[in-house]
Amino acid sequence: MITVTFVEANGKSRDVEAAVGATLMETAIKNSVPGIDAECGGACACATCHVYVDPAWMAAVGKPQPMEADMLDFASEVKPNSRLSCQIKLKPELAGLKVTTPVKQG
Ligand code: FES
Repeated sequence: MITVTFVEANGKSRDVEAAVGATLMETAIKNSVPGIDAECGGACACATCHVYVDPAWMAAVGKPQPMEADMLDFASEVKPNSRLSCQIKLKPELAGLKVTTPVKQG
């Protein structure tokens, strides 16, 4: 298990335990993290699992694949550090990962 931090748009922060091999979206849903809707269940087909990766973690998380980048076009207020959390697979190197959830999804 690793710990990841979800910060809400209002600044409220929460650390949750996450299983290596799970996606960041699955971790958010399992822990009822507000602001992650994940309507498509992780199929990279809805963009309602949008998060902003903390700048310090961008290199470790990596860039979106083309399919994810296309789907991100449907998210609101996309920024250079936007990612779809269902496409971020957790690995030991991401222990301590910090992401912020957007004001609204979709
Ligand atoms: S859960 Fe639908 S794109 Fe991530």
